[in-house]
Amino acid sequence: MGEQGSSSSSCFAGFVVVLSLVLNASVLCNGGKTSNFVRKVEKTIDMPLDSDVFRVPPGYNAPQQVHITQGDRVGKGVIVSWVTQDEAGSNTVIYWSENTKQKKQAEGKVYTYKFYNYTSGYIHHCTIRNLEFNTKYYYVVGIGHTERTFWFTTPPEVGPDVPYTFGLIGDLGQSFDSNSTLTHYEMNPRKGQTLLFVGDLSYADNYPNHDNVRWDTWGRFVERSVAYQPWIWTVGNHEIDFAPEIGETKPFKPYTQRYHVPYRASESTAPFWYSIKRASAYIIVLSSYSAYGKYTPQYEWLKEEFPKVNRSETPWLIVLMHSPWYNSYNYHYMEGETMRVMYEPWFVKYKVDVVFAGHVHAYERSERVSNIAYNVINGLCSPVKDQSAPVYITIGDGGNLEGLATNMTEPQPPYSAYREASFGHAIFDIKNRTHAYYSWHRNQDGYAVDADSMWFFNRYWHPMDDSTTADA
Ligand SMILES: *[C@@H]1O[C@H](CO)[C@@H](O)[C@H](O)[C@H]1NC(C)=O
Ligand SMILES: *[C@@H]1O[C@H](CO)[C@@H](O)[C@H](O)[C@H]1NC(C)=O
Ligand SMILES: *[C@@H]1O[C@H](CO)[C@@H](O)[C@H](O)[C@H]1NC(C)=O
Ligand SMILES: *[C@@H]1O[C@H](CO)[C@@H](O)[C@H](O)[C@H]1NC(C)=O
Ligand SMILES: *[C@@H]1O[C@H](CO)[C@@H](O)[C@H](O)[C@H]1NC(C)=O
Ligand SMILES: [Fe+2]
Repeated sequence: MGEQGSSSSSCFAGFVVVLSLVLNASVLCNGGKTSNFVRKVEKTIDMPLDSDVFRVPPGYNAPQQVHITQGDRVGKGVIVSWVTQDEAGSNTVIYWSENTKQKKQAEGKVYTYKFYNYTSGYIHHCTIRNLEFNTKYYYVVGIGHTERTFWFTTPPEVGPDVPYTFGLIGDLGQSFDSNSTLTHYEMNPRKGQTLLFVGDLSYADNYPNHDNVRWDTWGRFVERSVAYQPWIWTVGNHEIDFAPEIGETKPFKPYTQRYHVPYRASESTAPFWYSIKRASAYIIVLSSYSAYGKYTPQYEWLKEEFPKVNRSETPWLIVLMHSPWYNSYNYHYMEGETMRVMYEPWFVKYKVDVVFAGHVHAYERSERVSNIAYNVINGLCSPVKDQSAPVYITIGDGGNLEGLATNMTEPQPPYSAYREASFGHAIFDIKNRTHAYYSWHRNQDGYAVDADSMWFFNRYWHPMDDSTTADA
């Protein structure tokens, strides 16, 4: 749980940060950087129900909470989802490409669910398939009642030198800060083409009885982005919605009803872990909250998954999960540790380029390190620099109502390259098979400002040291 920001605790945190910088500089020469950025007191409360961003679109049975995600293995499919409130209405999506203007249609399905005393609207999911690559499409939902038109652009065909730009947001929620994060993402001149979302969407579970009305408001809030570009979903702890005290014992119920993902296309047996190819990236999504021990479905799937990655086809290997493995904040400390012990040897063996996680409401970027030598008796249990290892990035700073994680472990561990407790988002901008430019953007800055950045060198095609700290 985060703490609510208050002026006294922020000042104190700022003092600790400055002090640690001095310590780092004078005592420890090999640590990374703890930012001394001084922020204003954050307004970490949820936007009220009558906020502009939650407005229901006008018209009888108008589709709301429209969102899209990749709908197949390679990006020629799109899952279109929306909610109608008055009646089920049509499950049809009408779509056409900017080039041909020839109208086609696809049929979806409609779902409803109950959660305690909440009954959902009519949740529609419709997969459009066999689209052309690299093409702008328009689509219409709400056929027969109130029609609404949106558009998206399909990715280029999967291939090794296809430039592509991914945005990164985690732990977004629906506070005033969440709105600022989303605005900064939309206004960033680097223009993310697809968003990788690392879990914790609505934070509805922070309300009495997990008031699922806050799932609906969140859906309306983010529509302005996710109706026009795919968001790739990862589950976080706030998607579990396990509440036996009110008779809700099926984990992930609201999330799985509302957010569909193309897990079957990657031979996964559950929507919580899956993979996609998109442009020059292979993206593996893992679940920190599903069993991952040996012999479990997720373990068996991941074991088969890594050998399938062909770096001549998709040079960039990206993993998304919610709970970070390398985290030097005093929040959720070591929660990712058991999964790290299970899977880290594979991440090193298969040379994952970067791992994005959320959960901790702050920002942190690691060095390339691994910690896989320990065998219970040899005592080799410290992270070591490892050029085959991924960079670990915590981007749980979307700005939800729980506030910032400001309390850091001191001194900053050597594996931590940069850390700062500010809200923001990041962009992973793939240039070609060897280079990607990564930048983190804090909400207090202008839209074009990089608060932290790094040139990634691909681990397969250009495995040179890309560390940013002086002694590396
Ligand atoms: C659900 O129950 C809570 C109290 O238990 C009440 O405040 C709320 O109005 C109810 N909501 C609906 C939709 O009935
Ligand atoms: C959210 O941000 C948008 C875009 O900046 C703005 O138009 C809107 O008024 C904001 N809403 C709230 C409740 O802050
Ligand atoms: C890997 O991808 C390349 C480029 O698409 C292709 O030529 C090669 O046959 C693939 N290798 C395997 C083992 O599938
Ligand atoms: C920071 O976290 C540590 C470890 O949990 C705790 O002992 C300490 O009191 C915390 N400091 C502040 C300022 O909250
Ligand atoms: C790949 O992109 C980087 C950065 O833009 C550039 O310096 C490099 O020359 C490119 N490589 C090729 C083969 O084009
Ligand atoms: Fe979380």
